[in-house]
Order: sequence, then C-alpha cells, then structure tokens
Amino acid sequence: DWSMAEVLETQLKLIKEQVGPTQHAICALSGGVDSTVAATLVHKVLGERLHCVFVDHGLLRYKEGERVMEMFTQHLHLPVTKVDHKDVMLAKLKGVTDPERKRKIIGAEFIEVFKAFANNMEKELGHKPTFLVQGTLYPDVIESCPPPGSGQKHSHTIKSHHNVGGLPKDLQFSLIEPFRELFKDEVRAIGRLLGVPETFIKRHPFPGPGMGVRILGDVTEGDRLEVLCMVDEIYINAIKEFGLYDEIWQAFAVFLPIKSVGVQGDQRTHSHVVGLRAVCSSDGMTADWYPFTPEFLRTVSARICNQVRSVNRVVYDITSKPPSTIEWE
Ligand code: XMP
Repeated sequence: DWSMAEVLETQLKLIKEQVGPTQHAICALSGGVDSTVAATLVHKVLGERLHCVFVDHGLLRYKEGERVMEMFTQHLHLPVTKVDHKDVMLAKLKGVTDPERKRKIIGAEFIEVFKAFANNMEKELGHKPTFLVQGTLYPDVIESCPPPGSGQKHSHTIKSHHNVGGLPKDLQFSLIEPFRELFKDEVRAIGRLLGVPETFIKRHPFPGPGMGVRILGDVTEGDRLEVLCMVDEIYINAIKEFGLYDEIWQAFAVFLPIKSVGVQGDQRTHSHVVGLRAVCSSDGMTADWYPFTPEFLRTVSARICNQVRSVNRVVYDITSKPPSTIEWE
C-alpha cells in the first residue's frame, strides 16, 4: 500500500524526532490490532527503550491471554510484561449491572495497574519513562469528543471508550499516537508493512472492557464468564470453518441475563440464552448485520446447545448500527 508506506515513513521519522535518544516509552497492549501495530511501529524506533504491559483483566476471550502473549513474544519480539489482574477486577465488578459503571470500573482498574507498572519502570530505569504509546484511531477520537463548535459536553459521549481521554492528568506522559488520523483498515495496512502476521492483522476488533460489556448485567454471577467464553469460541471457530471470518468486521457472542424454558433430552430445562452478533463495517461507525445462511445458523446453534449444556436458546441479532451499536452495552 503506497500511501500507507508513506504514512509509516513519516511516523517513524516523527517519533524519532519526538523521542530523544535516551528517553523511554511505555505501552499497554490490549491484544488488539491497534495497540499491537502501534507498539511494533514504535519498537522499530526505540527498541529496548519501549516497555509494554499486557493486563489480563479476566474479561478476555477463551485462551486469549496465552494466545496474544505468544504472538507478542515469539512473533513480534516485543518487550512485554504480563500482569494478572483477574481476581481483583472480578471482585470490583461483583454486583455491578449498569453498563457505564462497569466500563468506568474496568477503565479505572486498568489505570491502577498501568500506574503501578509505570512506577515500577521508573524504579528499574532510575528515571521516569517520558512517553506513552497508544493505538488511538480516528473514529475513537471523534466518537469520544463532541464535534468542534457543537457546544456539547463530554457527557454526551456515545460510550466511554476506556482507551481515549481516560488517563488521569497526574500520569504526565507525552502521548505517541501514530494512528490518530487513521481508520482501522489503514492501520492493518501499516501492520502488514511492519511484518505483523496476516492472521493477527485480520483479527476482529475487541473492545477494551472485553467480555465485561458482552455479559449483560452482573459479569461475576454464576458461570456467566465461562459460558460466554465457550459459546464465543464455538461461534468464532464455526465462522472460520465456513470461511467467513474475513468477510465479517466483528463477530461475537453475548450473554443475556435471563433464562428461558427449553427441552433437552427428555428434560424440561430453564437455562441460559445467548445472542450472536456479526456485522460488516468499514470503520465501526456504522455497521450492517451479517446475513448468514440458514445452514450456518442451524449448525452453530446446534453445536452451542450440544456442547454447552447450560444454554438452551440461541438468538441472532438482526439489527444494524444505527439504530443499535455494535456491542450490546
Ligand atoms: P459500538 O458498540 O460503540 O462499537 O458500536 C464500535 C466499535 O468500538 C468497539 N468498542 C470499544 N473499544 N473500548 C474499546 O477499546 C471500549 O470501551 C469500546 N466500546 C466499543 C466495538 O467493539 C466496535 O468495534
């Protein structure tokens, strides 16, 4: 990609100018394409002066933590520390059902872990890392900020994205945000130019708060997290098996906080309901629901109910954005 090669060259140059020869930067890796490509880009300039952290907040997909860590260390050779924060996070989320409160808690916890990492880095280096690398995209910037001159306050934000504008002032980092003016597909092109493997580049976006906004209601109740992870894994694997993964912008399962009546074997059951969502989009700002074939839907629904005994009903979301958002919370 010609124009992206130019953007990449420009960014490498800008970062080199912005960051002095002895200064250090830190970066929080989410496991998504944006932060990974941002870190890979900055790593090219800073090498070992870049320090990454990956926080397992307990709201990841099935085996996600292991999978992305392998990617970071084995394939991209990024210097990265993994922090396990699952227990604390789930304790904080206990009993919380309001979507925005969940997001705030997840974001705040994340910042705590990040601060601890930054402080530790300062001790190790003997001085403070000066820069913070973020994979912020153009749509994140405009969805999180009111349009200029609109007179709107931040409270009119559609959803509080925890990776934008969420860092407290006292952290005092200069930001390196090479993708602030780019769309996702452009970041993917840059990732390819940087040698990030295609399977990783093509991964669907995953929101910072993860399964926290895909389990409606209390995340910690019963076996919700395990059930959702299993269902999601079956669904995504079926999408890959049918050769549809690359046609879809984003696909995921949603846990609904209700039970419905079913019949499994000879037994009447009163069990979980899960929703499936898949959308096509070019930037996440608008989206169309994906028209799966009846055969695909039949297969995936049967697999889910056979393999996850506590689910007796599967529904498919046929709403576009707008009026819905891509995520359910
Ligand atoms: P919505 O649900 O607002 O999502 O239509 C648009 C895109 O943004 C992702 N998303 C998030 N990403 N932190 C993130 O990093 C968040 O809090 C967040 N909320 C939504 C969503 O997955 C979709 O790709």
